[in-house]
Amino acid sequence: MVNPFTLPGVCYFGSGALENLSGELEYFNPKRIFLVSDHGVSSAGLIAPVKEQIKEAGAETVEFFETEAEPSVENVHLCMEKFKEQDCDFIIGLGGGSPLDVAKAVSVLATNDGSILDYAGIEMIPNKGIPKALIPTTSGTGSEVTKNAIITDKKAQLKKGVVSRYLLPEVAIVDSKLTLTLPPALTAATGMDALTHAIESYTAPKASPQTDIYALKAVELISSNLRKAVAYGSDHRARENMALGIVFAGISLANAGVGAVHAIAYPLGGKFGMTHGVTNALLLPYVMKCNLVGDLEKFARIAKLMGENTEGKTLREQAKLSCKAVFELSQDIGIPQKLSQFGVKKDDVPELAEAAMNVTRLMGNNPKVLCLEEVKEIMSEALD
Ligand SMILES: [Fe+2]
Repeated sequence: MVNPFTLPGVCYFGSGALENLSGELEYFNPKRIFLVSDHGVSSAGLIAPVKEQIKEAGAETVEFFETEAEPSVENVHLCMEKFKEQDCDFIIGLGGGSPLDVAKAVSVLATNDGSILDYAGIEMIPNKGIPKALIPTTSGTGSEVTKNAIITDKKAQLKKGVVSRYLLPEVAIVDSKLTLTLPPALTAATGMDALTHAIESYTAPKASPQTDIYALKAVELISSNLRKAVAYGSDHRARENMALGIVFAGISLANAGVGAVHAIAYPLGGKFGMTHGVTNALLLPYVMKCNLVGDLEKFARIAKLMGENTEGKTLREQAKLSCKAVFELSQDIGIPQKLSQFGVKKDDVPELAEAAMNVTRLMGNNPKVLCLEEVKEIMSEALD
C-alpha cells in the first residue's frame, strides 16, 4: 500500500517569515480572526507582531489565551464556546503544540457537531473546518505541518489523537525569530520531541523515500544545533537550523507517523502530567535499543548523522551507537533521565504498559512488533 504524502496549503520558513501573514490573510479576506494562544506566549511579547499583521490585513482580533499545556477535552470545548460567542471566520494558532492543536480542533468543531472525542482516530471528521494559520513559537511539535491534534482525555487518563486531513492548516508560518526567547528547558524538551519525530518516522513501517529525505535532514539539523540552541538561545543560526529541522521532522511525522516512544509516553503524560517533550526524550534511547533489530541499516545511518564514528564497525555495532548518541545529547541538554524522577513507581509499570499497548495506532507503526513484556522491560529500564 502506498501512503499519501500531505503538506499544509502554504508554508513559510525562515527568520522574519511572519511578515507574510498579512498577505496570506488578505487572500482569505477574513473579517474577525480568532487568535488561540496562551499566557506564556503573551508574556513573551509575541502577540503584538501577530496582531500587527492582522491589523494590516484589515481584520479584527478576538483573543483566547486560556489554552492549557497538554490541552484537555474540556479546554478544547471551552475554547469552542468562546469561538461560538464571537462571529469569527478564521483561526490563528500561535504558540507551542498546545495552542496549535486547540486551534486545529476548534477549526473543525466549528463545522462538525459534538465533542472532539467523537473524532479521535484516523480520518473521522466528515466536514472541512474553517480556514486556519498556524504559527509555532517553540521548536518542537511540528503541529503546524501535521494532520494531528493530541488531546488529553482526563477521564480515561490518556492522550488521544485526532488525525484528519482537515486539521492541516491552510497557512503554516515558521519564523525562527519567534523562538529566540524560548527558555533552555523548553528548547531542550521540544527539540528532543522533534528528534523523536524524525527517528521514529524514519524507522517506521510507513516510512517512504519521500519521508526519509525530510527525516534524515531533520536528524542532522537537530543533532548538530540543539546543544547550541539550549546553551545560547539567542544564536540566530542555531535557532534557524532548529526551526528548519523541526519542520522537516514534522513533515516526516505527518506522513510516516511515530511509534512506540509516543505510545508509551501517552499514558505517562495522562497519569503523571509529564510533558510530552520530556517524556519522549527520556524514553527514546530505551525504545531505540529495543527497536534496533527492526532496521539495523537505518539506525546505523542515524548514528553516523549524529556524529558517531562508525568506521570499521559491524552494522550491528554502528546501529547501537545511535542509542549512545541520543542518550548523550539528551544528557548534555539537561533532560531528566529516569521516570522515577516524576514519581513513577515499579508498581505502576504493568498498568502503564497495558495502556501503551492500547495505543494501537502508534504501536502498529513501530519498526519492531512489541509485546506487553517488552514494553514493561523498556519502562523498567527507564524507571531508575
Ligand atoms: Fe511528539
